[in-house]
Amino acid sequence: MRILFVCLGNICRSPTAEGVMRKVLAEAGAEGEIEVESAGTGSWHVGERADPRAVAAASERGYSLESLGRQVSPSDFEEYDLLLAMDRSNHADLLSIAPPDAREKVRLLREFDPKGGDLDVPDPYYGGHDGFNQVLNIIERSCEELLRELRDGGMAAVETP
Ligand code: 4NP
Repeated sequence: MRILFVCLGNICRSPTAEGVMRKVLAEAGAEGEIEVESAGTGSWHVGERADPRAVAAASERGYSLESLGRQVSPSDFEEYDLLLAMDRSNHADLLSIAPPDAREKVRLLREFDPKGGDLDVPDPYYGGHDGFNQVLNIIERSCEELLRELRDGGMAAVETP
């Protein structure tokens, strides 16, 4: 199974989700079952490393963010089983370019947030260090729940009814 995490710039939230999920999968011995990557709906940061503030906050919790920025491409809708948007704006942008038969693969990461509440992972780009830690808290608990649901029921567990 292949999962693509998607935000706007692909330098803050989705690289963080990718780095966190890689570690969650490694600790669960599931790296061979589930592959993860990230991309942005925008093209401003293509080829760039993750934002240094995201890298620092993630590193404090033992995650390394190594991906380089890239933009979502039409082939992603074929190559991934699940495209997880970081907020509702990213979700709408993905749906606006998704082929009709791939729409059900486009979901929000926070549908898996066990705490519920807001469906957006807030954009930390224009904020301070606290914003990056808040993003990590949301992403950690959502990724752990995502893996639990995938392990319990495979793809059927995450398919919309
Ligand atoms: P991200 O944050 O979507 O979490 O990577 C952003 C990074 C850059 C910009 C916006 C959001 N930007 O406008 O350049």
